[in-house]
Amino acid sequence: TVAIYLYRFGRYLDTSKGARVKVSSWRRNDDNSIPSRWKVSGAYVNSALAKTEALLSGYDEAILLNQNGFVAEGSGENIFLVRGRKLITPSYSEHILEGITRAAVIKLAKNELMLEVEERPVARSELYVADEIFLTGTAAEITPVVEVDNRKINGGEVGPITKELQELYFNAVRGKIERYKGWLTPVYEK
Ligand SMILES: Cc1ncc(COP(=O)(O)O)c(C=O)c1O
Repeated sequence: TVAIYLYRFGRYLDTSKGARVKVSSWRRNDDNSIPSRWKVSGAYVNSALAKTEALLSGYDEAILLNQNGFVAEGSGENIFLVRGRKLITPSYSEHILEGITRAAVIKLAKNELMLEVEERPVARSELYVADEIFLTGTAAEITPVVEVDNRKINGGEVGPITKELQELYFNAVRGKIERYKGWLTPVYEK
């Protein structure tokens, strides 16, 4: 049985200003406990604990490490680092959700910006030395990260590659780029 409900979601994170994030004291639920690959509703207790801790500590979002101590993802988003002309994101084996926005961003980065994309384990300290960081998700879209654990990323400003990807993504999901119209399902008539 499938149940679908609708409500006004509003803005989940600020996609223009960027988010201040904190590495959580909570670990991402292990794929061998509750698969992190899917949006399993019960598993969101893990996200709720991390997000609440981050908000109560004065941050906008939490970044969870997996049980091996490597970066997994945000409480409701996948994560990307930019280093030079390269995008780096934790691979599927890192106990992450297989996000559709993550997949879309990888396609846009490779096809439109000719960026190299590396899917591999990411250590916490690599976040601190990244040129840019952003989060991806259906709700978060592409949200820049401007601070991690009180360390500024790109001087606390939204980076140029993040901006380019945001523009491409917003145009693609609004049907403004012909070659990505296949991603969309119209739900109304003109
Ligand atoms: C834990 C988690 N990771 C990543 C994502 C991003 O997935 P998607 O791009 O499919 O929305 C979500 C979205 O809800 C999520 O809850």
